[in-house]
Amino acid sequence: MLQILTTFLMFLIMIGIRAFEEDYDIEYYDDLPENHYHKEGRSFSYPQSPIIDLIMKTAAPNYVPKNSGDIFDFLRDSYPLPGGLHSPYHEYDFVIIGAGSAGSVLASRLTEDKNTTVLLIEAGKPEMILTDIPIMAPYFQSTEYAWQYYMEPQPGVCKGMINGRCFWPRGKAVGGSSVINYMIYTRGRPQDWDRIAAAGNYGWSYREVLEYYKKSENARLNGYEKDPTRNRNGENPVEFVPIRTKLIKAFLEAGRIFGHPTIDYNSPHQLGFGYVQAITTKGHRQSAAKVFLHRQKKRQNLHILPDTYVTKILIDARTKTAYGVEYVRNRLKHTVLARKEVILSAGPIASPQLLMLSGVGPKKHLNSMGIPVLKDLPVGKMLYDHICFPGLIFELNTTDVSLHESKMLRVRPILQWLKNGDSTLSSPGGVEGIGYIKTPISNDPDPIPDIELISIGGSILSDGGPGGSRAIRRGMRIRDAVIDEAFGSIDRVARDTWSAFILLLHPVSFGGIELKNKNPFSHPRMYGNYLTHSKDVVTIIAGIRYVQAMAATFPFQKFGAKVHKASYPTCRHIPFDSDEYWECAIRTLTATLHHQIATCRMGPNNDPLAVVDPELRVYGIEKLRVVDSGVIPRTISAHTHAPTMMIAEKAADMIKATWASMLPNYISYS
Ligand SMILES: Cc1cc2nc3c(=O)[nH]c(=O)nc-3n(C[C@H](O)[C@H](O)[C@H](O)COP(=O)(O)OP(=O)(O)OC[C@H]3O[C@@H](n4cnc5c(N)ncnc54)[C@H](O)[C@@H]3O)c2cc1C
Ligand SMILES: *[C@@H]1O[C@H](CO)[C@@H](O)[C@H](O)[C@H]1NC(C)=O
Ligand SMILES: *[C@@H]1O[C@H](CO)[C@@H](O)[C@H](O)[C@H]1NC(C)=O
Repeated sequence: MLQILTTFLMFLIMIGIRAFEEDYDIEYYDDLPENHYHKEGRSFSYPQSPIIDLIMKTAAPNYVPKNSGDIFDFLRDSYPLPGGLHSPYHEYDFVIIGAGSAGSVLASRLTEDKNTTVLLIEAGKPEMILTDIPIMAPYFQSTEYAWQYYMEPQPGVCKGMINGRCFWPRGKAVGGSSVINYMIYTRGRPQDWDRIAAAGNYGWSYREVLEYYKKSENARLNGYEKDPTRNRNGENPVEFVPIRTKLIKAFLEAGRIFGHPTIDYNSPHQLGFGYVQAITTKGHRQSAAKVFLHRQKKRQNLHILPDTYVTKILIDARTKTAYGVEYVRNRLKHTVLARKEVILSAGPIASPQLLMLSGVGPKKHLNSMGIPVLKDLPVGKMLYDHICFPGLIFELNTTDVSLHESKMLRVRPILQWLKNGDSTLSSPGGVEGIGYIKTPISNDPDPIPDIELISIGGSILSDGGPGGSRAIRRGMRIRDAVIDEAFGSIDRVARDTWSAFILLLHPVSFGGIELKNKNPFSHPRMYGNYLTHSKDVVTIIAGIRYVQAMAATFPFQKFGAKVHKASYPTCRHIPFDSDEYWECAIRTLTATLHHQIATCRMGPNNDPLAVVDPELRVYGIEKLRVVDSGVIPRTISAHTHAPTMMIAEKAADMIKATWASMLPNYISYS
């Protein structure tokens, strides 16, 4: 019965989503307290139909007042306190801030010991049935499940975006960014981790981190499950996508023509191309929450508070010891104490923000904000990100080869997905394959790629055509006028397309993060500093040339692949296909893949940019660790969800070891 009801609802929702049509213009309300959020919600895609109204009620930022419940609550996961408790305890062994990729894993591992109590505090809500649908990944970036962060305007990048600003959504949910991400599973090259270890980060060599990658993995990769670098007995499922277009076959075939074997691209032994490995089960998203919290709900020692906003870490100014956190729940301020440690897992934007708000950060900056300094540390002084260029799009002469929204959000694929999980809805946002290449620009002596190619079963235009939702391009905040002028001829008729996103793996340019003010509900100032180093530009152009050459091979020419001559309003008068043209195009469609790292950089104590030590303890503050993607000290050849889970697995062991070794002392003195 529930199944039928759910199906019916989903059907309505899908139809509803297809009706998002009206043009919109984002206004900026990025630094207002939470209760001002509705303005932001309203400025985005004002609902058209009663069905959209329903979706927005559940998904848009505070469309209905908080905690009033909404009609989708019954489709949403829930995390009541165990044992009929009405409020959390006054004190826990560990208080973890943020239930994202890292926080979920950590909370689960620490509560394996029944004697250890953990409070996990999360600003977002639990996920729901729609977030389980992989193809809908791009649709959640403008909903209540994402922090509506924007990068500061910076000259020469993001020129095609609304107001010239790149959008930096991050997951705001129990499960964090793993509830809205593309589910792509990557680990990085062995040399990436060996270099991190060689810089003085003991314990982080590839050999050592591989054990932690494997620990959580439940590999269901036909043909590769028994590979000694994979594990079939962990919790986190990794599988191939059950649906493949002819385009991924062409991509891999073209790769082989260029000398890249079709392999498990996570294999440490060689570089190559492969089918995307997705964190799904039978075509359903498996967020870190689903895998590490949902099934652990009954644990009496694990308390989870969703919809709860941490405003400060409490640190004793005299002993420089963290002892608890301050948080806001149902608009009331509370504090909770941590007997052993406070662990910051709020992600690469919010963790440095909370540290700075709590008096840990660059002295001069904190002084200028009027925040008393407890410890002068280079918090937020570094920020690497992975940008890609999604605008190299090929038109095909077919009509039924590409994935296109208009073909997917229909009754049959929806029912099939519900039943077997093997319809086009199982495709993680249209991503089908990954290829690692090293362009002629690279002077790296090791087999470390400088570009990752992400083969899409279509393009950023696959959400267009008459009645299309335009969710993908809007998720990037590309201006409608830019799409119209550059891609209108494809878009209007929903033509078949193929594209490979060209991802810059190891940018030289890096940015940073600063507070805007002392208000914990404000967003910090985020700087990507993208493409400020010319090597980054020429490397992406080399990637573009590579893909053009691939598209010229027979596997793609079978489909008549022809590069689309996009004429961007920002690049008029520059001859198409010149390097200058591509540079301008990259600076127009500068798209992030949301892998911000290094804002709470890990490093040995002689590293002037280090915030945490190799055991992730904040320098100069006792009982405080940062465990999330922000500790990754330098770029890795990977998307960051699996690496972040790995970091949390390792952190859990380090934390357990710390407190296990305390025990004998404690006992002998008592
Ligand atoms: C749209 C998108 C697509 C992506 N696609 C992929 C992909 O396909 N593959 C991949 O490997 N990686 C992908 N990533 C990156 C990856 O998901 C992240 O790097 C990873 O999830 C980061 O984990 P984390 O634990 O550091 O932070 P998060 O998972 O972001 O978790 C931080 C949590 O802290 C909470 N929080 C923040 N501030 C507070 C506060 N004050 N109080 C309480 N809670 C707070 C947040 O709400 C959030 O739930 C994607 C990211 C995004 C945003
Ligand atoms: C848990 O704590 C109790 C009481 O302190 C102790 O007797 C017991 O051995 C502990 N159990 C474990 C698994 O550590
Ligand atoms: C597409 O173009 C290729 C190459 O020109 C050709 O072989 C093929 O038959 C064409 N397909 C269609 C459907 O027109």
